[in-house]
Amino acid sequence: MNRIFLIGYMGSGKTTIGKVLADTLGYTFVDMDTHIEAKEFKSVSQIFAELGEEKFRLLEQKCLYEVSQFENVVIATGGGAPCFFDNMDYMNEHGLTVYIKLMVEQLAERLEHSRANKRPLLADRKGDELRAFIAEGLAKRELFYNQAQLSAIGSDEQILMQICKFVATK
Ligand code: S3P
Repeated sequence: MNRIFLIGYMGSGKTTIGKVLADTLGYTFVDMDTHIEAKEFKSVSQIFAELGEEKFRLLEQKCLYEVSQFENVVIATGGGAPCFFDNMDYMNEHGLTVYIKLMVEQLAERLEHSRANKRPLLADRKGDELRAFIAEGLAKRELFYNQAQLSAIGSDEQILMQICKFVATK
């Protein structure tokens, strides 16, 4: 299968790992948020603020259908993408799905220093509030993330190796 979907919570490294993975495999790399922003001429935060989350989820699903036509591609999905509509089933039918699995503490550490306005759902949550928000969200989202064909854990390098090994068996 020549299409790989990277899924996982915000800040798990889907974009960073996805770019290296695509280079390694000689595939192209697509980031769904960037794709949506280019089509809509608006940032994700602007879409959330002006049109609302519900509309964003519809645009995200439309984007998923579009990028699922691409060949030889690594796709970094938005953190919420697998958790709406039947998107997770759709991805499993259209490619290899990989959950980049980080612990709450690791995610909190990374997201603490990320630009809040880039991720509207995080608003300006910090410290314990941020950690609690991630823990609660992740518990719900893992029902979907755990449907991925591979769960990869460890450092970015270890995750990359696990994905390459997995892809080689397909
Ligand atoms: C979201 C994750 C974001 C982006 C939007 C909503 C989410 O993508 O799609 O802000 O619901 O988890 P990243 O996972 O790339 O941050």
